[in-house]
Amino acid sequence: MIKNICCIGAGYVGGPTMAVIAQKCPHIKVTVVDLNQDRINAWNHSDLSLLPVYEPGLDAVVAEARGRNLFFSTDVDKAIDEAEMIFISVNTPTKTYGVGKGMAADLKYIELCARQIARIAKTDKIVVEKSTLPVRTASAIKDILDNTGNGVNFQILSNPEFLAEGTAIEDLFAPDRVLIGGDTTPEGQKAIQQLVDVYANWVNPANILTTNVWSSELSKLTANAFLAQRVSSINAMSELCEKTGANVNEVSKAIGLDSRIGPKFLKASVGFGGSCFQKDILNLVYIAKSYGLNEVADYWEQVIVMNDHQKRRFAKKIVSTLYNTVSGKKIAFLGWAFKKDTNDTRESAAIYVADDLLNEQANIAVFDPKVGESQIQFDLNYLNTRTEEENKKGVQVFDNAYNACNNAHAIAVLTEWDEFKTYDWQKIYDSMLKPAFIFDGRNILNGEELEKIGFVYQGIGK
Ligand code: NAD
Ligand code: UGA
Repeated sequence: MIKNICCIGAGYVGGPTMAVIAQKCPHIKVTVVDLNQDRINAWNHSDLSLLPVYEPGLDAVVAEARGRNLFFSTDVDKAIDEAEMIFISVNTPTKTYGVGKGMAADLKYIELCARQIARIAKTDKIVVEKSTLPVRTASAIKDILDNTGNGVNFQILSNPEFLAEGTAIEDLFAPDRVLIGGDTTPEGQKAIQQLVDVYANWVNPANILTTNVWSSELSKLTANAFLAQRVSSINAMSELCEKTGANVNEVSKAIGLDSRIGPKFLKASVGFGGSCFQKDILNLVYIAKSYGLNEVADYWEQVIVMNDHQKRRFAKKIVSTLYNTVSGKKIAFLGWAFKKDTNDTRESAAIYVADDLLNEQANIAVFDPKVGESQIQFDLNYLNTRTEEENKKGVQVFDNAYNACNNAHAIAVLTEWDEFKTYDWQKIYDSMLKPAFIFDGRNILNGEELEKIGFVYQGIGK
């Protein structure tokens, strides 16, 4: 039975996932390690509101397990040495250089982990791929481990993570399924069973699925591609709805009642964001192309093409509705995170809409309940569209929605935070310039009520 687990990478996945394993398995020592000292300090902070990841319920899980059998450290070598099972949960971003630039997954962090494990390990280890990886990465990891190691045995498992941000703890407590891929050899099957036994401490064994390594690796990319495709599909329909008088909410409901389609993931929006959908689909497209499967690659690439179009068209609609100019006008952004209940802004649609509006010389006023000024400026600067000074001049960040909306020409809802629905909209209307426009990029506000107050309301797909 496994008694000592190490996880390399204390990010959005490594942190919450290991916190839940530790909470549910008090008999297993779990050490999460990272090179980033600030991140580890934040995980160890006595004030649980300062954990580096905001997730509802995470603070309680950390409070229970930390110091008991959950530890956060930068001593990577020691944790590798002591562990019987090592999860690799480091980032696998899109490559920004060389062959595959802008498409392929950058596996340098994965390779560094493999080399470090090989160097340190003096006893047999089970190495678990928790990061999302291109299919067949396990063979590269195995190659490195077997060729640079100290003669000990390594088993490689694939155990992709399916949690969604904002609901990470719920998802980890009751996953639709846990997927574990491993070698078909007896040693491989034994390693699979050891990981099954860890999850079986709280997950119904019927929901733990075991496969070969390649199916497991590819299932993760496939799941994200299918999910993102649903969003792009309904977003494509939203544009057609706007032209024809159909209402995308009604269309979603009508098709979602078909049990073969199902109701989830059919919310039209300003476009999907998040660290993974785009990167994983680009990676899938790259893999397909590398096997010469051009039709497969083109098919999935359209999901990204549609998403880029949806973000751009939202910004264009704001400009055209505001009499074809937003130059010098104040546009209030409600929300910056890529979805509600997270402080994560990676690839958030808000960043791209802001960038387009800044190109039109708008003044943007942002309020997000969980995202602060430095992150917002960082996100814009990262695009390299204009200088840091220009971004600072063009975007003001507020800690209160009412102030952000004061004297604005228009409001754009970019994230579906629940609190936006509870605002005193009459008060906001009174403080705005007239006509007062609202562009609801999430279809969360009550358009009819807002129109009664006097707003000009435009949702997506209506
Ligand atoms: P992240 O950037 O939040 O965290 C990764 C961490 O790994 C960073 O803190 C980084 O410092 C650390 N790291 C990198 N190289 C290291 C090394 N050699 N040694 C020690 N630490 C190292 O990333 P994330 O969002 O947690 O994603 C991790 C993986 O999980 C990715 O492959 C991603 O695709 C996948 N995934 C993410 C989510 C999600 O919701 N964010 C969900 C499912 C799967
Ligand atoms: C997604 C998947 O849902 C997870 O299963 C997966 O583990 C994860 O990616 C990953 O691999 O990183 P996440 O990106 O955290 O999780 O959040 P989602 O709930 O999937 O939302 C992604 C984006 O799609 C958000 O911007 C969201 O607002 C948007 N979305 C989602 C819509 O616009 N409409 C919908 O109906 C659903």
